[in-house]
Order: sequence, then C-alpha cells, then structure tokens
Amino acid sequence: MNTIKIDKYTFAEFISADKIAQRISELGEQITTDYKDKTPIVIGVLNGSVIFFSDLIREIKCDVEIDFLRISSYEKAMESSGVIKVHKDLNSEIEGRHIIIVEDIVDSGLSVRFLKAKLEKSNPASLKVASLLLKPTEAQIDFPIDYTGFEIPPAFVIGYGLDYNQKFRNLKSIYSLVLDENGKEES
Ligand code: IMP
Repeated sequence: MNTIKIDKYTFAEFISADKIAQRISELGEQITTDYKDKTPIVIGVLNGSVIFFSDLIREIKCDVEIDFLRISSYEKAMESSGVIKVHKDLNSEIEGRHIIIVEDIVDSGLSVRFLKAKLEKSNPASLKVASLLLKPTEAQIDFPIDYTGFEIPPAFVIGYGLDYNQKFRNLKSIYSLVLDENGKEES
C-alpha cells in the first residue's frame, strides 16, 4: 500500500492520479455537451479547488470564462469551524450568466450551501455545482451536486488540492486517513 505519514497520522493512496484524470475527462465531456451553445463562467473556490479547476476547464471544449472566490471555514486542521468567511469576492458580473461553481469537496455541505445562496442573489441565468469529491453521508444539502467526480466515505482526505494544515495540496493522488494519532484504524 502506498502510504504517507504526517505528524502521527497515516494516509494511504485512495484515488490515483490516473483515475482522477480519467474522471475529469468524463466530467469535461458532460459539461461540454450541456453548455455547447453557451459561455458559462466557471468559478473556482480557492484554495482547494485550484488543481481540479485547472484540469477541468481544459477538458471543457466550449468557450468559458473564469473567476475565483476565496472562502474559508476550516480553522483547525481537520474540523470545520462552521462559520464561513469570504476573503476574495468575484470580479465578474454574474447576472443573467450561466454559472458553474467548482469545489474540491462537499463534506458537511455548509460551504456549497453558502455559495449557492450568495450567488443566487445576483440572479444568474443558471447555477450548477461541480465537485471533485462528495461525502454523501455527511452532506446536508437539499439540491444535487450536478457534476460529481467521486462519492467517498467520510474519512479526511488530502492531495490534489486538498490540504492538511495548508500543506500536501501538491500531491498528485488523493490520500485518505487510515490511522489516527494513536495508530487506531479510522472507521
Ligand atoms: P464543507 O464541510 O462541505 O463546508 O467543506 C468545506 C471545505 O472544507 C472544502 O471545500 C474543503 O476545502 C475543506 N474540507 C472538507 N473536507 C475535507 C477533507 O476531507 N480534506 C481536506 N479538506 C476538506
């Protein structure tokens, strides 16, 4: 098993770089079909989505514009604070435009709920969400994630944009926490 040790935690490779690339190509194809006569604004949610975002937009074969938002909810390394702060807002006018929000992961669903509600206030023509990962057992949302890369169990994951204490975003694969700080297996 391909594992890495960080502090006292052990992470194991969970989704390989090849599998991620394959799935993103499928998502790109789907988005290309859905938006073929439109020019959507694809909005990356910084920092976590940056790698997924840059790979995904290059798999979309119709015109797109891009913009970014930066929000944060995680104060501790592996726990959400439950409070969302906007650190960078959009530069584009989104009224009447087709919008695709690009997230790294939908975990509790708090961030995506916040973002949807915030952007809907500006009356976009349509608003869809793409997320590389979705933890369906955790997500408290009453709308679908329109483009989901992978549904995963509720373990903490890092790599491919996802961080632990702001680090490990540059790992090419996604790794999942398998042993906690006491060497106990994560359920
Ligand atoms: P939420 O709980 O759905 O609001 O997730 C908000 C944000 O927390 C995500 O966009 C990620 O940046 C971060 N996050 C949630 N779960 C994980 C995880 O397992 N690993 C790393 N970051 C995570």
